[in-house]
Amino acid sequence: MPILSYLVGKTRKLGLGATRSTTYYEPAHIAREFATLDHLSKGRAAWNIVTSMNDSEGRLFGKDKHLEHDLRYDRADEFVEVALKLWNSWDKDALKLDRESGVLADPGLIRSVQHQGEWFKVEGPLNIPRTPQGRPVLIQAGSSGRGRRFGARWAEAIFTIHPHLVAMRAFRDDVRTQVEQQGRDADSCKVLTAVMPFIGGSEAEARAKRDRHNALARPELGLVTLASQLNVDLSPFALSATLAEVAESPLIHAAAAEKLLMQGPETTLEQLGRIFASSVRVPQLVGTGAQVADQLAELFEQGGCDGFVISPAYLPGSFTEFVESVIPHLQRKGLFRTAYEGSTLREHLGLADLPG
Ligand SMILES: Cc1cc2nc3c(=O)[nH]c(=O)nc-3n(C[C@H](O)[C@H](O)[C@H](O)COP(=O)(O)O)c2cc1C
Repeated sequence: MPILSYLVGKTRKLGLGATRSTTYYEPAHIAREFATLDHLSKGRAAWNIVTSMNDSEGRLFGKDKHLEHDLRYDRADEFVEVALKLWNSWDKDALKLDRESGVLADPGLIRSVQHQGEWFKVEGPLNIPRTPQGRPVLIQAGSSGRGRRFGARWAEAIFTIHPHLVAMRAFRDDVRTQVEQQGRDADSCKVLTAVMPFIGGSEAEARAKRDRHNALARPELGLVTLASQLNVDLSPFALSATLAEVAESPLIHAAAAEKLLMQGPETTLEQLGRIFASSVRVPQLVGTGAQVADQLAELFEQGGCDGFVISPAYLPGSFTEFVESVIPHLQRKGLFRTAYEGSTLREHLGLADLPG
Protein backbone atom coordinates (compact mmCIF):
# COMPACT_ATOMS: atom_id res chain seq x y z
CA MET A 1 0.00 0.00 0.00
CA PRO A 2 2.79 2.52 0.67
CA ILE A 3 4.34 1.70 -2.72
CA LEU A 4 0.99 2.17 -4.47
CA SER A 5 0.48 5.51 -2.74
CA TYR A 6 3.86 6.55 -4.13
CA LEU A 7 2.94 5.28 -7.60
CA VAL A 8 -0.25 7.38 -7.60
CA GLY A 9 1.92 10.42 -8.19
CA LYS A 10 4.09 8.72 -10.82
CA THR A 11 1.29 7.38 -13.04
CA ARG A 12 -1.90 8.79 -14.53
CA LYS A 13 -3.99 5.89 -15.77
CA LEU A 14 -2.64 2.59 -14.44
CA GLY A 15 -4.78 0.61 -12.05
CA LEU A 16 -3.09 0.10 -8.68
CA GLY A 17 -3.83 -3.20 -6.96
CA ALA A 18 -2.52 -4.61 -3.69
CA THR A 19 -2.96 -7.95 -2.01
CA ARG A 20 -4.42 -7.98 1.51
CA SER A 21 -5.34 -11.08 3.47
CA THR A 22 -8.73 -11.39 5.14
CA THR A 23 -7.21 -13.85 7.61
CA TYR A 24 -4.92 -11.38 9.38
CA TYR A 25 -6.65 -8.00 9.11
CA GLU A 26 -9.95 -6.48 10.16
CA PRO A 27 -12.52 -5.17 7.65
CA ALA A 28 -12.16 -1.62 8.98
CA HIS A 29 -8.40 -1.64 8.20
CA ILE A 30 -8.95 -2.71 4.63
CA ALA A 31 -11.98 -0.49 4.03
CA ARG A 32 -10.07 2.59 5.21
CA GLU A 33 -6.84 1.83 3.37
CA PHE A 34 -8.46 1.15 0.01
CA ALA A 35 -10.90 4.05 0.35
CA THR A 36 -7.94 6.35 0.86
CA LEU A 37 -6.05 4.85 -2.10
CA ASP A 38 -9.13 5.18 -4.32
CA HIS A 39 -9.47 8.86 -3.36
CA LEU A 40 -5.76 9.57 -3.82
CA SER A 41 -5.70 7.89 -7.24
CA LYS A 42 -9.11 9.25 -8.35
CA GLY A 43 -10.56 5.79 -8.84
CA ARG A 44 -7.70 3.46 -9.74
CA ALA A 45 -7.56 1.20 -6.66
CA ALA A 46 -8.00 -2.59 -6.60
CA TRP A 47 -7.88 -5.10 -3.76
CA ASN A 48 -6.62 -8.64 -4.44
CA ILE A 49 -8.52 -10.56 -1.76
CA VAL A 50 -6.53 -13.51 -0.46
CA THR A 51 -7.00 -15.75 2.56
CA SER A 52 -3.25 -16.57 3.01
CA MET A 53 -1.73 -19.96 2.41
CA ASN A 54 0.78 -21.24 4.92
CA ASP A 55 1.45 -21.87 8.57
CA SER A 56 4.58 -19.74 8.52
CA GLU A 57 2.43 -16.70 7.77
CA GLY A 58 0.26 -17.67 10.74
CA ARG A 59 3.32 -17.76 12.99
CA LEU A 60 4.29 -14.25 11.86
CA PHE A 61 0.93 -13.13 13.21
CA GLY A 62 1.23 -15.00 16.50
CA LYS A 63 -0.81 -18.08 15.58
CA ASP A 64 0.63 -21.58 16.00
CA LYS A 65 -1.52 -22.87 13.19
CA HIS A 66 -3.16 -21.27 10.24
CA LEU A 67 -6.99 -21.23 10.27
CA GLU A 68 -8.32 -24.21 8.27
CA HIS A 69 -8.76 -23.64 4.49
CA ASP A 70 -12.55 -23.50 4.13
CA LEU A 71 -12.98 -21.58 7.39
CA ARG A 72 -10.63 -18.94 5.99
CA TYR A 73 -13.08 -18.48 3.10
CA ASP A 74 -16.06 -18.38 5.50
CA ARG A 75 -14.30 -15.56 7.33
CA ALA A 76 -13.45 -13.92 3.99
CA ASP A 77 -17.12 -13.95 2.90
CA GLU A 78 -18.19 -12.09 6.01
CA PHE A 79 -15.13 -9.85 5.79
CA VAL A 80 -16.12 -8.64 2.31
CA GLU A 81 -19.77 -8.21 3.40
CA VAL A 82 -18.63 -5.88 6.18
CA ALA A 83 -16.16 -3.98 3.99
CA LEU A 84 -18.95 -3.39 1.44
CA LYS A 85 -21.27 -2.12 4.18
CA LEU A 86 -18.56 0.32 5.25
CA TRP A 87 -17.82 1.51 1.69
CA ASN A 88 -21.54 1.89 1.01
CA SER A 89 -22.21 3.81 4.21
CA TRP A 90 -21.68 7.13 2.39
CA ASP A 91 -23.89 8.03 -0.59
CA LYS A 92 -22.30 9.70 -3.59
CA ASP A 93 -23.73 13.11 -2.73
CA ALA A 94 -23.27 12.96 1.04
CA LEU A 95 -20.21 15.22 1.15
CA LYS A 96 -21.41 18.82 0.78
CA LEU A 97 -18.36 20.94 1.73
CA ASP A 98 -20.69 23.96 1.70
CA ARG A 99 -18.84 26.96 3.09
CA GLU A 100 -21.89 29.28 3.00
CA SER A 101 -24.12 27.12 5.18
CA GLY A 102 -21.25 25.58 7.11
CA VAL A 103 -22.41 22.07 6.18
CA LEU A 104 -19.68 19.44 5.77
CA ALA A 105 -21.89 16.46 4.97
CA ASP A 106 -25.57 15.57 4.84
CA PRO A 107 -26.21 13.10 7.68
CA GLY A 108 -29.32 11.88 5.86
CA LEU A 109 -27.05 10.45 3.16
CA ILE A 110 -24.74 8.61 5.57
CA ARG A 111 -25.91 5.23 6.86
CA SER A 112 -25.06 3.73 10.18
CA VAL A 113 -23.56 0.22 10.01
CA GLN A 114 -24.48 -2.27 12.71
CA HIS A 115 -22.88 -5.60 11.85
CA GLN A 116 -22.94 -8.55 14.19
CA GLY A 117 -21.91 -11.82 12.58
CA GLU A 118 -19.99 -14.98 13.29
CA TRP A 119 -16.57 -13.41 12.78
CA PHE A 120 -16.99 -9.67 13.12
CA LYS A 121 -18.82 -7.08 15.20
CA VAL A 122 -18.54 -3.70 13.54
CA GLU A 123 -20.25 -0.38 14.09
CA GLY A 124 -19.94 2.21 11.34
CA PRO A 125 -20.23 4.28 9.23
CA LEU A 126 -16.77 4.43 7.73
CA ASN A 127 -15.09 7.71 8.57
CA ILE A 128 -14.07 8.30 4.94
CA PRO A 129 -16.51 9.56 2.27
CA ARG A 130 -17.58 7.43 -0.67
CA THR A 131 -14.73 6.93 -3.10
CA PRO A 132 -14.58 7.71 -6.85
CA GLN A 133 -15.19 4.06 -7.80
CA GLY A 134 -17.57 3.48 -4.88
CA ARG A 135 -15.11 0.82 -3.70
CA PRO A 136 -11.90 -0.69 -5.04
CA VAL A 137 -12.15 -3.21 -7.87
CA LEU A 138 -12.27 -6.65 -6.22
CA ILE A 139 -9.70 -9.18 -7.47
CA GLN A 140 -9.32 -12.78 -6.32
CA ALA A 141 -7.37 -15.92 -7.25
CA GLY A 142 -9.05 -18.93 -5.61
CA SER A 143 -8.69 -22.24 -7.44
CA SER A 144 -10.21 -24.78 -5.00
CA GLY A 145 -13.97 -25.45 -5.03
CA ARG A 146 -14.50 -23.22 -1.98
CA GLY A 147 -12.15 -20.55 -3.41
CA ARG A 148 -14.03 -20.47 -6.71
CA ARG A 149 -17.36 -20.15 -4.91
CA PHE A 150 -15.98 -17.16 -3.03
CA GLY A 151 -14.63 -15.65 -6.27
CA ALA A 152 -17.92 -16.18 -8.10
CA ARG A 153 -19.73 -14.29 -5.34
CA TRP A 154 -17.44 -11.25 -5.11
CA ALA A 155 -14.66 -11.03 -7.68
CA GLU A 156 -14.67 -8.58 -10.57
CA ALA A 157 -11.36 -10.00 -11.83
CA ILE A 158 -9.85 -13.44 -11.15
CA PHE A 159 -6.15 -14.28 -11.51
CA THR A 160 -5.47 -17.84 -12.49
CA ILE A 161 -2.74 -20.18 -13.78
CA HIS A 162 -3.38 -22.98 -16.32
CA PRO A 163 -0.95 -24.82 -18.60
CA HIS A 164 -2.97 -24.72 -21.85
CA LEU A 165 -6.11 -23.54 -23.63
CA VAL A 166 -8.28 -26.54 -22.70
CA ALA A 167 -7.69 -26.02 -18.97
CA MET A 168 -8.08 -22.24 -19.29
CA ARG A 169 -11.41 -22.62 -21.03
CA ALA A 170 -12.71 -25.19 -18.53
CA PHE A 171 -11.84 -22.83 -15.68
CA ARG A 172 -13.39 -19.76 -17.32
CA ASP A 173 -16.58 -21.66 -18.25
CA ASP A 174 -16.89 -22.87 -14.66
CA VAL A 175 -16.35 -19.36 -13.25
CA ARG A 176 -18.94 -17.87 -15.60
CA THR A 177 -21.51 -20.54 -14.67
CA GLN A 178 -20.91 -19.99 -10.97
CA VAL A 179 -21.04 -16.19 -11.31
CA GLU A 180 -24.46 -16.55 -12.95
CA GLN A 181 -25.58 -18.93 -10.20
CA GLN A 182 -24.81 -16.11 -7.78
CA GLY A 183 -27.31 -13.94 -9.67
CA ARG A 184 -24.59 -11.88 -11.35
CA ASP A 185 -23.94 -11.13 -15.03
CA ALA A 186 -21.14 -13.46 -16.25
CA ASP A 187 -19.36 -10.49 -17.87
CA SER A 188 -19.11 -8.72 -14.51
CA CYS A 189 -16.17 -11.00 -13.62
CA LYS A 190 -13.09 -10.98 -15.85
CA VAL A 191 -10.87 -14.07 -15.89
CA LEU A 192 -7.20 -13.09 -16.28
CA THR A 193 -4.87 -15.99 -16.96
CA ALA A 194 -1.12 -15.81 -16.33
CA VAL A 195 1.48 -16.14 -19.11
CA MET A 196 5.25 -15.66 -19.17
CA PRO A 197 6.44 -14.26 -22.52
CA PHE A 198 9.95 -14.70 -23.98
CA ILE A 199 10.28 -12.32 -26.91
CA GLY A 200 13.11 -12.19 -29.43
CA GLY A 201 13.96 -10.52 -32.73
CA SER A 202 13.62 -14.02 -34.21
CA GLU A 203 11.99 -17.19 -32.97
CA ALA A 204 15.43 -18.75 -32.43
CA GLU A 205 16.51 -15.81 -30.26
CA ALA A 206 13.35 -16.09 -28.17
CA ARG A 207 13.91 -19.82 -27.68
CA ALA A 208 17.51 -19.23 -26.65
CA LYS A 209 16.32 -16.70 -24.05
CA ARG A 210 13.76 -19.13 -22.67
CA ASP A 211 16.32 -21.97 -22.54
CA ARG A 212 18.90 -19.81 -20.79
CA HIS A 213 16.30 -18.66 -18.26
CA ASN A 214 15.06 -22.18 -17.52
CA ALA A 215 18.58 -23.58 -17.27
CA LEU A 216 19.13 -21.20 -14.33
CA ALA A 217 16.19 -22.68 -12.45
CA ARG A 218 17.38 -24.86 -9.55
CA PRO A 219 14.82 -27.57 -8.69
CA GLU A 220 15.49 -27.21 -4.94
CA LEU A 221 14.32 -23.59 -5.09
CA GLY A 222 11.13 -24.56 -6.89
CA LEU A 223 10.49 -27.20 -4.24
CA VAL A 224 10.79 -24.56 -1.52
CA THR A 225 7.94 -22.62 -3.18
CA LEU A 226 5.91 -25.78 -3.64
CA ALA A 227 6.50 -26.93 -0.05
CA SER A 228 5.40 -23.59 1.32
CA GLN A 229 2.22 -23.62 -0.82
CA LEU A 230 1.39 -27.16 0.34
CA ASN A 231 2.46 -26.67 3.97
CA VAL A 232 4.74 -29.73 3.87
CA ASP A 233 8.45 -30.37 4.30
CA LEU A 234 9.89 -31.89 1.12
CA SER A 235 13.50 -31.82 2.29
CA PRO A 236 13.56 -35.49 3.50
CA PHE A 237 12.88 -36.75 -0.06
CA ALA A 238 15.42 -37.44 -2.79
CA LEU A 239 15.09 -35.36 -5.96
CA SER A 240 14.64 -38.61 -7.88
CA ALA A 241 11.54 -39.61 -5.85
CA THR A 242 8.31 -39.77 -7.86
CA LEU A 243 5.24 -37.84 -6.70
CA ALA A 244 3.50 -41.18 -6.11
CA GLU A 245 6.26 -42.17 -3.66
CA VAL A 246 6.17 -38.79 -1.92
CA ALA A 247 2.36 -38.80 -1.67
CA GLU A 248 2.43 -42.20 0.07
CA SER A 249 4.72 -40.99 2.84
CA PRO A 250 3.21 -40.45 6.33
CA LEU A 251 5.03 -37.08 6.33
CA ILE A 252 2.62 -35.73 3.70
CA HIS A 253 -0.93 -34.75 4.72
CA ALA A 254 -3.86 -35.92 2.58
CA ALA A 255 -4.68 -32.60 0.88
CA ALA A 256 -1.04 -32.11 -0.16
CA ALA A 257 -0.83 -35.71 -1.43
CA GLU A 258 -3.89 -35.13 -3.61
CA LYS A 259 -2.43 -31.94 -5.10
CA LEU A 260 0.92 -33.65 -5.78
CA LEU A 261 -0.73 -36.58 -7.54
CA MET A 262 -2.62 -34.17 -9.79
CA GLN A 263 0.76 -33.19 -11.28
CA GLY A 264 1.24 -36.77 -12.51
CA PRO A 265 2.27 -39.68 -10.22
CA GLU A 266 5.34 -40.57 -12.29
CA THR A 267 6.74 -37.02 -12.28
CA THR A 268 9.85 -36.72 -10.11
CA LEU A 269 10.43 -34.04 -7.51
CA GLU A 270 13.30 -32.80 -9.63
CA GLN A 271 11.06 -32.32 -12.68
CA LEU A 272 8.32 -30.57 -10.71
CA GLY A 273 10.89 -28.47 -8.82
CA ARG A 274 12.35 -27.31 -12.12
CA ILE A 275 8.90 -26.28 -13.39
CA PHE A 276 8.16 -24.36 -10.19
CA ALA A 277 11.56 -22.68 -10.21
CA SER A 278 11.27 -21.57 -13.83
CA SER A 279 7.68 -20.28 -13.88
CA VAL A 280 5.53 -21.66 -11.00
CA ARG A 281 3.57 -23.50 -13.75
CA VAL A 282 2.74 -20.30 -15.64
CA PRO A 283 2.82 -21.24 -19.37
CA GLN A 284 5.77 -19.78 -21.24
CA LEU A 285 5.00 -18.13 -24.60
CA VAL A 286 7.96 -17.95 -26.95
CA GLY A 287 8.47 -16.09 -30.22
CA THR A 288 8.77 -12.74 -31.95
CA GLY A 289 6.43 -9.94 -30.87
CA ALA A 290 4.05 -10.86 -33.70
CA GLN A 291 4.11 -14.57 -32.79
CA VAL A 292 3.45 -13.92 -29.09
CA ALA A 293 0.60 -11.56 -30.07
CA ASP A 294 -0.86 -14.38 -32.21
CA GLN A 295 -0.64 -16.83 -29.30
CA LEU A 296 -2.37 -14.37 -26.94
CA ALA A 297 -5.06 -13.63 -29.53
CA GLU A 298 -5.71 -17.35 -29.97
CA LEU A 299 -6.11 -17.97 -26.21
CA PHE A 300 -8.44 -14.97 -25.91
CA GLU A 301 -10.51 -15.65 -29.02
CA GLN A 302 -10.92 -19.34 -28.18
CA GLY A 303 -12.53 -18.39 -24.85
CA GLY A 304 -9.55 -19.19 -22.60
CA CYS A 305 -9.67 -15.86 -20.79
CA ASP A 306 -10.84 -12.25 -20.77
CA GLY A 307 -7.31 -10.89 -20.36
CA PHE A 308 -3.83 -11.75 -19.13
CA VAL A 309 -1.57 -11.46 -16.13
CA ILE A 310 1.85 -10.85 -17.69
CA SER A 311 4.44 -12.59 -15.50
CA PRO A 312 7.88 -11.12 -16.10
CA ALA A 313 10.65 -13.70 -16.63
CA TYR A 314 13.26 -11.11 -15.71
CA LEU A 315 13.41 -7.54 -14.48
CA PRO A 316 14.11 -5.01 -15.74
CA GLY A 317 13.27 -5.75 -19.37
CA SER A 318 10.28 -8.09 -19.64
CA PHE A 319 7.55 -5.45 -19.37
CA THR A 320 9.28 -2.98 -21.70
CA GLU A 321 9.83 -5.70 -24.35
CA PHE A 322 6.20 -6.74 -24.07
CA VAL A 323 4.88 -3.21 -24.44
CA GLU A 324 7.20 -2.37 -27.34
CA SER A 325 7.06 -5.66 -29.28
CA VAL A 326 3.68 -7.27 -28.58
CA ILE A 327 1.19 -4.48 -27.84
CA PRO A 328 1.47 -2.83 -31.31
CA HIS A 329 0.50 -6.15 -32.92
CA LEU A 330 -2.45 -6.56 -30.55
CA GLN A 331 -3.52 -2.99 -31.37
CA ARG A 332 -3.35 -3.75 -35.09
CA LYS A 333 -5.60 -6.74 -34.50
CA GLY A 334 -8.06 -4.48 -32.64
CA LEU A 335 -7.51 -6.45 -29.42
CA PHE A 336 -5.88 -3.72 -27.34
CA ARG A 337 -6.84 -0.09 -26.79
CA THR A 338 -4.83 2.65 -28.51
CA ALA A 339 -5.95 5.22 -25.93
CA TYR A 340 -7.69 5.00 -22.56
CA GLU A 341 -11.44 5.41 -22.90
CA GLY A 342 -11.95 6.32 -19.24
CA SER A 343 -10.04 7.33 -16.16
CA THR A 344 -10.95 4.74 -13.48
CA LEU A 345 -9.74 1.14 -13.28
CA ARG A 346 -13.37 0.02 -13.38
CA GLU A 347 -13.68 1.77 -16.74
CA HIS A 348 -10.38 0.33 -18.05
CA LEU A 349 -11.64 -3.18 -17.26
CA GLY A 350 -15.00 -2.59 -18.92
CA LEU A 351 -16.89 -3.12 -15.65
CA ALA A 352 -20.26 -1.46 -15.10
CA ASP A 353 -20.48 1.55 -12.78
CA LEU A 354 -21.78 0.77 -9.31
CA PRO A 355 -25.07 2.27 -8.21
CA GLY A 356 -24.30 5.26 -6.03
C1 LIG B 1 -1.44 -14.90 -9.89
C2 LIG B 1 -1.72 -15.30 -8.46
C3 LIG B 1 -1.26 -14.49 -7.41
C4 LIG B 1 -1.48 -14.84 -6.06
N1 LIG B 1 -1.03 -14.03 -5.05
C5 LIG B 1 -1.23 -14.39 -3.73
C6 LIG B 1 -0.76 -13.59 -2.66
O1 LIG B 1 -0.11 -12.55 -2.88
N2 LIG B 1 -1.00 -13.98 -1.37
C7 LIG B 1 -1.70 -15.13 -1.07
O2 LIG B 1 -1.92 -15.44 0.11
N3 LIG B 1 -2.15 -15.92 -2.09
C8 LIG B 1 -1.94 -15.57 -3.39
N4 LIG B 1 -2.38 -16.39 -4.41
C9 LIG B 1 -3.04 -17.66 -4.05
C10 LIG B 1 -4.55 -17.57 -4.14
O3 LIG B 1 -5.04 -16.55 -3.28
C11 LIG B 1 -5.16 -18.91 -3.72
O4 LIG B 1 -4.96 -19.14 -2.36
C12 LIG B 1 -4.57 -20.07 -4.48
O5 LIG B 1 -4.74 -19.84 -5.88
C13 LIG B 1 -5.19 -21.40 -4.05
O6 LIG B 1 -6.58 -21.39 -4.19
P1 LIG B 1 -7.52 -21.77 -2.98
O7 LIG B 1 -7.27 -20.72 -1.92
O8 LIG B 1 -8.92 -21.67 -3.53
O9 LIG B 1 -7.12 -23.13 -2.51
C14 LIG B 1 -2.17 -16.04 -5.76
C15 LIG B 1 -2.62 -16.85 -6.82
C16 LIG B 1 -2.41 -16.50 -8.15
C17 LIG B 1 -2.93 -17.41 -9.23
